[in-house]
Amino acid sequence: MIKLGVNIDHIATIRQARKECFPSVVSAALVCQKAGADGITIHLREDRRHIQDEDVYNIRDVLQIKLNLEMSTSKDIVEIALDAKPDSVCLVPEKREELTTEGGLDVKNNQQELSEIILKLKNSAITVSVFVEPDIAQIQSSYEIGADAVELHTGKYANLFKNSTNNFDVLQEELSRIYNASTFAVKKGLILNAGHGLDYDNCLPICKIPDMSEFNIGFAIIARAVFEGLENAVKNMKELINR
Ligand code: PXP
Repeated sequence: MIKLGVNIDHIATIRQARKECFPSVVSAALVCQKAGADGITIHLREDRRHIQDEDVYNIRDVLQIKLNLEMSTSKDIVEIALDAKPDSVCLVPEKREELTTEGGLDVKNNQQELSEIILKLKNSAITVSVFVEPDIAQIQSSYEIGADAVELHTGKYANLFKNSTNNFDVLQEELSRIYNASTFAVKKGLILNAGHGLDYDNCLPICKIPDMSEFNIGFAIIARAVFEGLENAVKNMKELINR
């Protein structure tokens, strides 16, 4: 069974567009839970463009499934994570000008800083994942600094999938890169997760990767919810990834 973490950032994006108190991210989290999601993922960005500090606490207080907090390594965000104690965090790189997380974390060149943060989080009983490109060196470094899990960045794969008729060979190359990285991560004893850009079509080849533990999917589910409702959108994805 591949677990489904539903990223509900874009429920907050809608709310923040009008600085209203609805739609409620807490209600959204509970609908996802009822629909069979295994976890809720939220990204508390440094610019607070969608999820706000109080959302982290409010969702944590009602959720019975896992809460996964995506976050940068900035000091004040790490402080909030240590205080709110989500079940897990996923460390991601963050740039103000990006629309969404663009690349994986450069674990290899930031081992000292990252290992100190990981140690603090793990000492607070928080499981730590790092969001990395499907790259053997980055996964080796993730293992060396004590991460519990890696979340493989599937963004490049998802972009190639959109134009797969023109890009068939490059798409296959990227898929092999993800497969090889997955095998290596599992061999190292890391929990294997994947996310970014996954949707109802392109997730199928990624579902076939042995020992895949969890997908974190946001945009595709929230976009489908506009027409089908959130509960159906989550149920359909959960069913699809375990078919
Ligand atoms: N995983 C990580 C680490 C992310 O940063 C994001 C985007 O917030 C996702 C998964 C979900 O990506 P998408 O919204 O494209 O499904």
